Amino acid sequence: MPVLYNPQTQEPYLRLPAPLRQIIITPHRPHQLEETIAAKLPLLNDPRIYLNLTGSPFPYLREHAEAWMNTQIAAAEPVLQALRTEFETSVQGQRYFGLCPFTVIREVTEEDPETGHPLKDTLIGDIGIARYQFYEYRQGSAERAEAQRLNGDLPAGDERIVWAIGNFLAPSYHGRGIMSLALRTLIQDWGVPRMNVKHLKAAAFEENIGSIRVFEKNNFEVTQTLKDWEPYPENRGGGWKSLVLVSWRGL
Ligand SMILES: CC(C)(COP(=O)(O)OP(=O)(O)OC[C@H]1O[C@@H](n2cnc3c(N)ncnc32)[C@H](O)[C@@H]1OP(=O)(O)O)[C@@H](O)C(=O)NCCC(=O)NCCS
Repeated sequence: MPVLYNPQTQEPYLRLPAPLRQIIITPHRPHQLEETIAAKLPLLNDPRIYLNLTGSPFPYLREHAEAWMNTQIAAAEPVLQALRTEFETSVQGQRYFGLCPFTVIREVTEEDPETGHPLKDTLIGDIGIARYQFYEYRQGSAERAEAQRLNGDLPAGDERIVWAIGNFLAPSYHGRGIMSLALRTLIQDWGVPRMNVKHLKAAAFEENIGSIRVFEKNNFEVTQTLKDWEPYPENRGGGWKSLVLVSWRGL
């Protein structure tokens, strides 16, 4: 399915195919800042989620959510504006974009019977495509900084860019196939056609079987296991974590 557009709210969005077409992936909504923060705080402070994430701060505070959303909204706005113009003039403008504005996974609870566009929905998770962090090099190392710099300097649409996936879903929605299909939708409907994504990687803790399986189901293969990759913060349980790296083999 291509990118969809709700003319009433001027929101471009992605929709998962059947049997999960009630799930959509939208940009952040500046007018729903408070609702989004209220939905995200309990999720990112739930051990079933934060213990599986490498990057998010813990405890996850309101100020973290607000700063993250404001950065995402500002970065995505030019892309969304270009998409709105495309939909309203039926003329495709920019061929490739340098970011993915679709990051919020929502369950539609009410839709317009005539147009099929969502009227009401609930935030149930998060997914994103961002430039890869090069976990194979030690944190703080010159090699990692240099790899990130070179990758970050490549222009939008450059097929050498190495992209990365991050994601989480509310625990009550786990195990229903949602993330497997959300990832496929994001790659097929946006990453490949509108970002020219050719290289896509991800990292999951070794014990995160569900996440690794989501990637395998989307044609990623395990390329490396970094044993005892990093000490885990004491407030997350301490110890050492091993990291599994996966790499996409294409559509
Ligand atoms: C990992 C996560 C995103 C998976 O999302 P999901 O929608 O529950 O995954 P799916 O329902 O699409 O499941 C995909 C496959 O993984 C399997 N799976 C899912 N969770 C599993 C688990 N905890 N243990 C074992 N297998 C699991 C499913 O059975 C399915 O495999 P199958 O089709 O062969 O039966 C979700 O569990 C989550 O948000 N976890 C916390 C945050 C996180 O780990 N994020 C990823 C960081 S790398």
